[in-house]
Amino acid sequence: MNIVCIGSGYVGSVTGAAFAVLGHHTTVLDIDHNKIDLMNAGKSPIYEPGLDHLIAKYMGRTLFATTDYQVIYQAEVVFIGVGTPSKADGTADLKFIRLAAESIGKHLNPNKFTVIINKSTVPVGTADLVASIIEEASGLQVNKHFAMASNPEFLREGYALEDVFFPDRIVIGTEHERSKKVMQALYFNLLNRVNYDEKSSDFKFAYNSHAALPTYYETDIKSAEMIKYASNAFLAVKVSYINEMARLCETLGANITEVANGMGMDSRIGSKFLQVSSGWSGSCFPKDTAELLATSQKYSCELTVVQAAVDSNQQMHDYVVDKIKRKLKTLTGKNIGILGLTFKPNTDDARKTQASVIIKELIDAGARIKAHDPHGMEMFQQLNAALDVQYVTSAIEVTNNVDAVVLLTHWDEYLLIDWSQVLPNMRSPYLLDTRNVLKQSHLQKLGFDYEGLGINSSKNKIEFEVKGA
Ligand code: UGA
Repeated sequence: MNIVCIGSGYVGSVTGAAFAVLGHHTTVLDIDHNKIDLMNAGKSPIYEPGLDHLIAKYMGRTLFATTDYQVIYQAEVVFIGVGTPSKADGTADLKFIRLAAESIGKHLNPNKFTVIINKSTVPVGTADLVASIIEEASGLQVNKHFAMASNPEFLREGYALEDVFFPDRIVIGTEHERSKKVMQALYFNLLNRVNYDEKSSDFKFAYNSHAALPTYYETDIKSAEMIKYASNAFLAVKVSYINEMARLCETLGANITEVANGMGMDSRIGSKFLQVSSGWSGSCFPKDTAELLATSQKYSCELTVVQAAVDSNQQMHDYVVDKIKRKLKTLTGKNIGILGLTFKPNTDDARKTQASVIIKELIDAGARIKAHDPHGMEMFQQLNAALDVQYVTSAIEVTNNVDAVVLLTHWDEYLLIDWSQVLPNMRSPYLLDTRNVLKQSHLQKLGFDYEGLGINSSKNKIEFEVKGA
């Protein structure tokens, strides 16, 4: 099939590369020359493990990249994968979607039936908006010359290729019979893993031989749009929930890792997304929960559980700052080393990360901050120019002459640090591991004052009423 993916960001570049691997003639289209030049030079416009390799291999064979909207004329399928950032009121800003729709309309082929698919996370009803913009720009008619579909993307940054080639489900929202057939044909190779063995070198970084075949789920457009928001908000609730349990475990002397293990054995709960952190963040959960809350308020249908998850998440950021403050007595004049600025490992994405909130609170309380991240430092620095942070080029430098080291993101390279070399350089031996990934007993033996979240047994005596009823 002839596919165009508009947008070369975290969704568009991965989707484009994946369809090219699966044998479709795929063109990634972006108005940003720099990103397109990078792709044409065989390089990935984002940091995502394995993506460089695919772009280098397929560029010019089944993968193409351009800034020229003329390619729409030949397309059977057009994915819209542009950004939908939050506006100040929390609602999604659809300006890039509108621009893309208008440009599609101007270049649509009247003699070809084209399916236009929203892959970006867009508010319920956006497919209708896109259809009307295309109609106006093209003079053509929806469901006659072109059809709309919603195909939300569920990939996680850092694991994008595994998620895109081995998804749990493909959700397709469309109400038009011809476009249903086009979508089924488009996904046939992925659903049936056609040629996966022959392409095993492409999948080596992502291969999941145990993954069950994906479920192909057809539904109406609005439900498909809603599935994306409802899924992300649910996962945000799940992480807020385990983080709250971690705070209670810490007070009562229970161990959250044990608790999460025990909970996860119940298949109704599942073991994923029960990992403690200083709070969820990133380019998706904050934006999507904000949009859902703004929309629910607009239609007087308030989502109190989602609102609680957002509030609880802010409390988790504050909790981490309070914990450091309690340990160091005061933050004034204290040097703090931060390991990890991205919202999770294996991505350079530093948009809306917990690090920015926590670092700001630490600075406001009088601390001086040194920070490191293997791939996210540049973007973090750009987005947080107002934060007075000393950026250093190695994890070890972060630990020099500090009163505390705080691990926020569990990059592999931080798990390999030789901590015995670190301790002598620190002003005091406090190490806070907000992901509970370091070896507690080993670090304590070395002399660190190690703390995780929800695992340091409180010596609080649990009080019971002795005289029962
Ligand atoms: C999320 C969803 O997981 C994807 O399915 C979705 O496609 C994507 O948003 C999107 O809307 O584009 P992503 O934001 O890349 O993916 O990252 P996640 O792996 O979901 O992590 C989100 C945040 O939750 C991170 O800050 C992460 O550290 C935190 N988290 C996650 C935890 O604190 N604990 C966990 O157990 C899992």
